[in-house]
Amino acid sequence: MSKESILIVEKDTTERNVITAVLSRLGFPFRTASNTTEAIRLMDGESFPIIISDIRFETEDGAGVMNRIRMFDQHPPFVVMTGHSGDYSFDRVFGAGAQEFLKKPFTPDQVENRLKRIFHERLLICENEALQKQQAELNEQLKALLSVAADLTSELGFDRLFPLIIGKISEALNAERTSLYVIDRENGELWTRVSEGIAPLKLRLGDGISGRVAQTGEMICVEDAWELPYFSREYDEQHKFRTRSVLCIPIYNRMGDRFAVIQVINKRDRGIFGDKDKSFLIGLGSQVGIALENAILYDEIRLSFESFIHTLSAVVDARHPLTAGHSQRVTEYSLMIAEKMGMAEPQLEVLKIASLLHDIGKIGIRDDVLLKNGSFTPEERKEMNTHPAKTKEILEKFRFPKTLKSVPEIALYHHEKVNGQGYPIGLTGDKMPLESKIMAAADVFDALTSRRDYPKYTRGETFSCEPMPLAKAIAILKSEAGSHFDRDVIDAFMGCLPRALLRFRGEHFPPQYVDDTIRLLAPELLGPER
Ligand SMILES: [Fe+2]
Ligand SMILES: [Fe+2]
Repeated sequence: MSKESILIVEKDTTERNVITAVLSRLGFPFRTASNTTEAIRLMDGESFPIIISDIRFETEDGAGVMNRIRMFDQHPPFVVMTGHSGDYSFDRVFGAGAQEFLKKPFTPDQVENRLKRIFHERLLICENEALQKQQAELNEQLKALLSVAADLTSELGFDRLFPLIIGKISEALNAERTSLYVIDRENGELWTRVSEGIAPLKLRLGDGISGRVAQTGEMICVEDAWELPYFSREYDEQHKFRTRSVLCIPIYNRMGDRFAVIQVINKRDRGIFGDKDKSFLIGLGSQVGIALENAILYDEIRLSFESFIHTLSAVVDARHPLTAGHSQRVTEYSLMIAEKMGMAEPQLEVLKIASLLHDIGKIGIRDDVLLKNGSFTPEERKEMNTHPAKTKEILEKFRFPKTLKSVPEIALYHHEKVNGQGYPIGLTGDKMPLESKIMAAADVFDALTSRRDYPKYTRGETFSCEPMPLAKAIAILKSEAGSHFDRDVIDAFMGCLPRALLRFRGEHFPPQYVDDTIRLLAPELLGPER
């Protein structure tokens, strides 16, 4: 039982002294009041686990005292009434809420024996309550553990999985926020892979609590971080936050290398993290470690795949000096159009890869055709027009993951027209995938607005090899909506064109070339200096 004071409310000084002497001998602290008014005042600022109270006062009887006492505390104290048994029936005393009755007059020995028994009972009740509370907490943590285990084996993407797990850790440990740091040994630092309520953070190994855990592998569990000499308050002060209790553990990969850290901050209700919290987090840490290691490997594979695709795309464009950057620009235009049209993953990813590699078939075109400085003969045009089929042939040799299986076919159709007069198949708009329709518009726009070795023709007009004036290129796209291009795609393209032009202003496009058009289309996008 806690050593909170016991309250004695007894008007009779002699009897009060008997009780206080016994309590002193037993080593229990106590407070005394000689009437109910004094008792209520004491209870206003302090809580008492046990109240030993007289049953009869001049102004109030035992039942009234009891009710007033109970108004003050959410967790009612154990009440012992003292009095002469002739004054009240036991039914009335216990009916009013007392748990025990101490009959007057009493001797110190009688009081001691009775109080010992009461304290023992009270202790059992307290232990029972604590066990029930512990059991309830364990049940909650077990539920959280099972739920996290289910999440880890689900097919959730990593970007959704980790915030979910972090949230469940905070919930299970009743904490304000949790962060997951990944250790970067090469650069001697660690950074937040996922965090709640804080901006992404980078720390030196050894700095602060998580940096220290990352460096030494020791678990840190503290009541108040501000008392640690190595804790910097700078972040707290900048963000008007107060870090108090912290539980921070290292995470190991399958090789046994320490590669991450989980930090849980501020047990709610000003509590501290206990042994159960530590066991829970350590138990969960090994599972999180496996999932995180997979996520990191997956990221590395994805990054190396992407860099391979980008390099390949640049190599294809570099075969001709005038097409440098063409595939990259077509990809960026295509993605802007697709996002404007509300396209979601994984189609966006398919469109990205297909756009980056749409002209890869050109590596199979003879140099004297591909690099020709001037217009094509019909035979050369025929040769050139085989490049989409060659693109498909090459891309089909790639081992694309399931979600990217349609890339070769999407790329094949990038020169098709919605009126069925494109090549190589002559597909009509209703058969063309949306991704191909988008690429078709982006591809032509880039060809019109870039320098080429051959003059540009359209509807009987001949233009030079130089980039076509933007207004003219836009007019062509619009006039061919419904014949060459899909109308919705052109509408979406017009909606994101200013952004697309600004993206390459000063890079592919001379500033003046872009600014004159944007001044007409969306002057608000131009800064005052332009
Ligand atoms: Fe092409
Ligand atoms: Fe192209």
